[in-house]
Parts: sequence; structure tokens; C-alpha cells
Amino acid sequence: MSRSAHPAGPRHADVLPEGHYTAPPADLNTLDPKVWSRTVERDEQGIATVAGLRVTDLAEEFGTPAYFLDESDFRARCRAWAEAFGADADVFYAGKAFLSRAVVRWLHEEGLNLDVCSGGELSTALSAGMPAERIAFHGNNKSEDEIRRAVEAGVGRIVLDSFQEIVRVAHIAQSLGRRQRVQIRVTVGVEAHTHEFIATAHEDQKFGIALAGGQAAEAVRRALKLDGLELIGIHSHIGSQIFDMAGFEVSARRVVQLLAEVRDEHGVELPEIDLGGGLGIAYTSEDDPREPHEIAKALGEIVTRECEAAGLRTPRISVEPGRAIVGPTAFTLYRVGTIKPLDGLRTYVSVDGGMSDNIRTALYDAEYSVALVSRTSDAEPVLSRVVGKHCESGDIIVRDAFLPADLAPGDLLAVPATGAYCRSMASNYNHALRPPVVAVRDGEARVIVRRETEEDLLRLDVG
Ligand code: LLP
Repeated sequence: MSRSAHPAGPRHADVLPEGHYTAPPADLNTLDPKVWSRTVERDEQGIATVAGLRVTDLAEEFGTPAYFLDESDFRARCRAWAEAFGADADVFYAGKAFLSRAVVRWLHEEGLNLDVCSGGELSTALSAGMPAERIAFHGNNKSEDEIRRAVEAGVGRIVLDSFQEIVRVAHIAQSLGRRQRVQIRVTVGVEAHTHEFIATAHEDQKFGIALAGGQAAEAVRRALKLDGLELIGIHSHIGSQIFDMAGFEVSARRVVQLLAEVRDEHGVELPEIDLGGGLGIAYTSEDDPREPHEIAKALGEIVTRECEAAGLRTPRISVEPGRAIVGPTAFTLYRVGTIKPLDGLRTYVSVDGGMSDNIRTALYDAEYSVALVSRTSDAEPVLSRVVGKHCESGDIIVRDAFLPADLAPGDLLAVPATGAYCRSMASNYNHALRPPVVAVRDGEARVIVRRETEEDLLRLDVG
């Protein structure tokens, strides 16, 4: 990614500060379809619309800040993943990216499966009618209660993450007179980053059981012996916001090697492998994500080739995209409150949300785009930082962005690609009220997660 400290183009100061930005875009009014959900455009007055609804009307009706989720885009992405992987593979939407009952119903209707990783996500899924056999249950420290509820509900698989859990799940399943289908999550020694992967001999993180040192092979040995478990396969998730398929290739190769070792030692060919999620999306115009059909083709070829080489039947593949499905389908709408031009530095634009509705910039130094959406402007682009209203200088939503010089309090800004890990990681910091999620489709808008109220906050405060 080319980054420049002194980009060409209009400036509001003689020297621009260090930062993560390129030259200002030729036209600040363009809403790049790469980063905005599919039905976003501007109407003849220059007001941005989504699913045919003007953001100015949406702000009026639902308030700000608020997340607007483009339902037809979400469904189209589900279908694209399901079609790309076809009947011989399974797509599990990773609920941690964003989960609500409406989303569960859409997933069900579009034929996707669901990955959950807590009792709360499990209840949301079951209460919205997701068939239990289409649910995978994840987590590195599931409680006994969560395991019991998952087994009782009849989830399609539990992904085992430690030696303790192998015994715990087997014991609970047996006590309930069940044989639980399980996968073992392994760490393959690949550490994936946004644009690169670094192969490491040892994983230094909390998830899974290492292939290194024969740990994963030992886990398989133990799981195969326990009556309460039906071991159906191996799981590997290498990271998030990945563009490069090379990490998946190494992961698939190492998982297939383990399948071959299991076959040699136990005479058993495990029928499934799960290669996890982690596929990247465009947060800015510089990101170039892969399409689901390219990913399906690449993964299918790697697994088939490796299995042929090892003399194994090709297992059924599953994947767990979260961000790649929901991320691009939503934007957050904010209203500008105050504007501070800091000479020689940048202009600080404060909006009515912040790190409580999008922690990703503070937590991961994530990059986002932003646009003035309540009108167009031909004013000069000004290097700006969009910040929230929290008592914290790290309360940054968009670190570096160009916004028009005539931006004023009351204008609406929207930050695209906030469908994943924004509402799901939202907090009540400073007793902020978490924003609503409004689904929009074909000219209609409906709240699917309502805005929190002060009453909600006070209800929990029982002292
Ligand atoms: N499967 C497993 C086992 C996972 O742990 C995750 C993400 C996924 C699938 C989905 O990954 P995705 O396709 O959404 O990248 N909060 C962070 C990301 C942490 C993801 C944790 N696990 C963020 O905001 O970027």
C-alpha cells in the first residue's frame, strides 16, 4: 500500500503531518462501490441513499449514530458463498461478526450454516429457528453449561480446542446418552496478517492444539477412543482480514498431512476439514478482496491436490466467513457535532458516536473510509480525523480522511464497511447507548436491533 506523508493535491496547511493517507481522491462525492454496500448511491440532489432510502430521512426516523444493514446485499453475499462452494462443501457464517435474530433467519433462508462461540450466540441462533444440526459450536473455554446446552440442542458439531475439552465434551455427551459430532481445532504454525503470512514453528496464542510436536495427533488418538465423541474432522482458522491465499494453502496442506497420519495410524479417513474464516474485505479503495468463487476454486484445488498426493479421498470442506459476508453490507451514520481545524496538523471532526460503536480503529489501527452523505460539496479537501465523543484521545473512528472544507455541524457522515465486528464489539463506555441496527431493503427500513436506552443501562445497575 503506498502511503505518503506529503501527498499531492489540495492542502489546508503548508506541511501535512505523518499519517496513513494517500493523495485526496479526485472527487470526494464519489461513493466507491468497492467499500459501500450494493444499493448505496446518490440521488439527484446529492443525498446518499441505500435501498432507495435517503440517509437524511433515515437519520430523522432512526436517529444517529445508527448502523444501516443492506439486507439484499447480505443475502446476495450469502448466495454467492453458497453457490461458489456448491453442494460438496458447507459455508458457516461466523456469527461473532454480527448476529441477530433477523440475520439468523436470512442465513436459514439462504441455506447457510452458522458458527457460534458462546451460549448467547447459541440461544440467538436457536430462538430464531436455525436448525441445531446446522450450527457449529466454537470457543477455547466453553463452560460445562454451554457444552451441555449445545449437546442437548443437537448441534451439528462442537469444535474441540484443548485436551481438557475433549474429555469434558465426551463426558457430557455420554451422560446425556449422546454421541457428539466433533472436530479438533489445530494450529498449523501459520500466522496470517493482512497482506502477508509468516510461517512460525510454534504458535504463541491461545487457540487450538498444535500440530507441532505431535500434539494434534495425540488429540485425535484420545478423541477416537471416547464413546461420547464422533470425530468428523480437523479445523484450522489462521487469522482475519487476509487477502493472500498462501496462508490458506499452507494450512490446507498441513491439515491434509494430519489426515494422512491419522489414516496411517488408525485406518480411519476423517471425512471433513474446516479451513475457517478470515477472508479480507475492502475498507478503503486500496483494498482488493477476492471473490467467493476465486476462494472456493483456490481452496478446492489445494485440498484435492494434497489429498491425491497423499492417496486420500477428498474430504468435505467447510469455511467460516464472517466479515466477508456482513462487513461490506452496513455503514454507520453519524452526525457532525464539532469541528476543530488544528493548524499545520489536521481538522478534528467530532461525531455523535465513537469507540463504543467502532472499537476497531483503536484496537487494531484499522483503516476506514468516510464520506459526507447528506449533501455533496465541491469545497477543497481537508485532511481530517473523524473522532467520537468519548473521554479518550484514542477515540478515533477514521484516522486519516479527506473531507470537504465546508463541512459543518449538523452534516451527516457515513463510515462504510462497518457490518462486521462493530455492533458485535460495541460497548457502553462512558455509558454510551449502543446504536440500533436498521435493516433496509427495497425502499423499506426496519429496526432489527433497537437502540439502547438509559433505562436499559439503569436496569442492570441493581446496587
Ligand atoms: N472462524 C473462527 C474459528 C474464527 O475465530 C473467526 C474469527 C472466524 C471464523 C471469522 O473470521 P472472519 O471471516 O470474520 O475474519 N474482531 C476482529 C476479528 C477477530 C475474529 C475472530 N475470529 C476484527 O474486528 O477484525
